[in-house]
Amino acid sequence: MITLDIINKKRLGKELSYLELFDIFNGYLDGDVPDYQMSALLMAICINGMTDEEIFALTKIFIDSGDRLDFSDIKGIKVDKHSTGGIGDKTTLIIAPIVASLGIPVIKMSGRGLGYTGGTIDKLESIPGYRIDLSEKEIVKQVHDLGIVITGQTGNLVPMDKVIYALRDVTATVSSIPLVASSIMSKKIAAGADKILIDIKVGNGALLTNREDAKKLSDLMIKIGEFYGREVRTIISDMNVPLGRCVGNALEVKEAIDVLRGKETDNNLTDLCIELSTDMVSMGLQISKKQAKEMVLNTIYNGSAYMKFLKLIERQKGDISKLKVSEKVIKVKSPKDGIVKKINALELGKLSLRLGAGKEEMDDKIDYGVGVKLNKLVDDEVKKGDVLFEMYVGKKEPEYNLDDIYKID
Ligand code: URA
Repeated sequence: MITLDIINKKRLGKELSYLELFDIFNGYLDGDVPDYQMSALLMAICINGMTDEEIFALTKIFIDSGDRLDFSDIKGIKVDKHSTGGIGDKTTLIIAPIVASLGIPVIKMSGRGLGYTGGTIDKLESIPGYRIDLSEKEIVKQVHDLGIVITGQTGNLVPMDKVIYALRDVTATVSSIPLVASSIMSKKIAAGADKILIDIKVGNGALLTNREDAKKLSDLMIKIGEFYGREVRTIISDMNVPLGRCVGNALEVKEAIDVLRGKETDNNLTDLCIELSTDMVSMGLQISKKQAKEMVLNTIYNGSAYMKFLKLIERQKGDISKLKVSEKVIKVKSPKDGIVKKINALELGKLSLRLGAGKEEMDDKIDYGVGVKLNKLVDDEVKKGDVLFEMYVGKKEPEYNLDDIYKID
């Protein structure tokens, strides 16, 4: 098939067949289709969208590009969860032990940060020694022994997504709904999930900035799930404000521990973690959400979720006693009295990245101890001179504009 004809067909808004999609995408993976042609096709998909048939075909092509993991001899319904990415999103560190402590096997293969959003694997690497490179054999053994694993992606799982995502990242084609849906769903299906929960973030700190798009993505992922015989549930959650108080790797691990120990009970992070865990438990144990929620809350009150977290860290060779945040702390104070009306998630993500919590350039080294901790949250009353947030600073001390971050009226 002629690559140019395939691109042109999509440019004209026509439907591509499975074979056409197969040829051009596999051609790209094999190095026969150059970046500029794949970029043109991705942009045409971004602008003209895809039919459901095309999306199912693309998801299959992605899944078939690599290995499929088989965890069928692990007893129990394996429920996987995926977030489309946000600022301060440490939900995996909290919900995985909650769900596992209720006997549902959790096999979580997490990723690194992208853009301004942090990744679970980077957060876990802030715990000295923690292994993120478990083999398939080690995963199976650990799930049998402990019921929980959080590791990096193993082996050759959806290699197509790796190359296409890298190209999307630099061609302004990341937020295409069909491309997001097939990227995420192919990874979840290839990783052997029986049921899947997707946390779709919407807001200025997320991939999608409006609810209509989030709803479209949700419907699409549910349809892909149906096509593959997987139950998919979705939650659309707000990403105009960061999740919880902390942004930055070690700080976020500490905050996750506080939630698991029942010390943080009244913010958006705890609420979302309870909501996500409730859905996962309801799917995994096939019980009502009401029953599931009671069980979830109990794992926090009785300490079993926190114990599971500690065992997970120990089993993967992490030393939680060596978790360190930067000792240099700058307190940022309010210039006036008022009420916090808004905290801009995106600006906090940028500040945290510039402090060194993420990579600005491919070769940068992450500073695990830096980040931001919010002292005042939305709707809090502040007096002039009150500390709004603390910056945990390492080698870099970036400039910022307070008005871009906090809106106080
Ligand atoms: N997360 C993914 O894994 N893929 C996307 O396309 C977007 C977010």
